[in-house]
Amino acid sequence: MPSLLLLPGDGIGPEVMAATERVIDFFNRRGAGFELQHGLVGGSAVDKEGAPVSEETLAIGEAVDAILFGAVGGPQYDELSYEMRPEAGLLRLRKHFELFANIRPAICYPALADASSLKREVVEGLDIIILRELTGGVYFGEPKTIEDLGNGQKRAIDTQIYDTYEIDRIARAAFELARTRRQHVTSMEKRNVMKSGVLWREVVEDAHKDGNTDITLSHMLADAGAMQLVRDPKQFDVIVCDNLFGDMLSDIAAQLTGSLGMLPSASLGAVDERSGRRRALYEPVHGSAPDIAGKGIANPIAMIASFGMALQYSFGMVNEAKALDGAIAAALADGLRTADIAHGVTPVSTNEMTDAILGKLEKAL
Ligand code: IPM
Ligand code: MN
Repeated sequence: MPSLLLLPGDGIGPEVMAATERVIDFFNRRGAGFELQHGLVGGSAVDKEGAPVSEETLAIGEAVDAILFGAVGGPQYDELSYEMRPEAGLLRLRKHFELFANIRPAICYPALADASSLKREVVEGLDIIILRELTGGVYFGEPKTIEDLGNGQKRAIDTQIYDTYEIDRIARAAFELARTRRQHVTSMEKRNVMKSGVLWREVVEDAHKDGNTDITLSHMLADAGAMQLVRDPKQFDVIVCDNLFGDMLSDIAAQLTGSLGMLPSASLGAVDERSGRRRALYEPVHGSAPDIAGKGIANPIAMIASFGMALQYSFGMVNEAKALDGAIAAALADGLRTADIAHGVTPVSTNEMTDAILGKLEKAL
């Protein structure tokens, strides 16, 4: 039986996860047989289990096919130590399961082209992927410290590290993805100021020559790439970059689509040779949005679409994934809008948006 661990987390996480469970139930009523387990992560895990993700939760994660993750963080956790902060739970999950490939699609649904802060013609029909390296770079490099220099000064150090194998595997993942799309990869780094950028470009070039020349490869400095993303985003297909640049570029890409509340993501590990299984965690790109938490008004689309990515990448349920995407697009085309994308129309609640998506699914399947 396909199995999932649900980690709703903090803020709006539990609300959008509850909406997604209704979608999972829908597929179960049609015989999909998803077995669900639930766990804590982030601030709520610190409160109840004393750590942002417990060893028991990690052990359950080992046993399931995929993890669905909501969001973590909130102002009540701001005073926690660096190791205990809610985000540490997410970073631990990424590192523990070696989820090095973070796929962040930015798709502009036709009904939402006017919700973007960019002109309709710039974003209409946009369909790009930011492929972000997720387990290396400055997020995890050591030393990572703040030292007291003893003269009234402190020194903060973060370390950007990349080994050849880390760049090679994310580059190959980019070529593989592009092969299923428009066969174009743009690699972004800062080789003009960073040694890691010099090596990044070299290794991406080598991976390209080694069996991937059917894909067009271009390179861009990451700052210029950020500018091109807002100038003419449709020039891209797959953008591959390191952990920190990917964090920033994917927020920019999100805004092109109208709202951060729309974007799903998949974080994948290598294929396990014995089981043939690929470790995977699916999460919306948006955060915990504490300002609207508990009001029942959060946009559930990014979380539901993250489950859609799980259908596609973990369970090979490609038709169901397509139907779910179609149901989301159809609900939007009917004019339904949660508050984040309302722009003047009367917004619907999380539940009403979920009802509409389920209604469309009902018709499609
Ligand atoms: C993201 C988030 C995380 C990140 C935070 C919550 C640690 O911003 O997934 O983009 O920086 O990776
Ligand atoms: Mn981010």
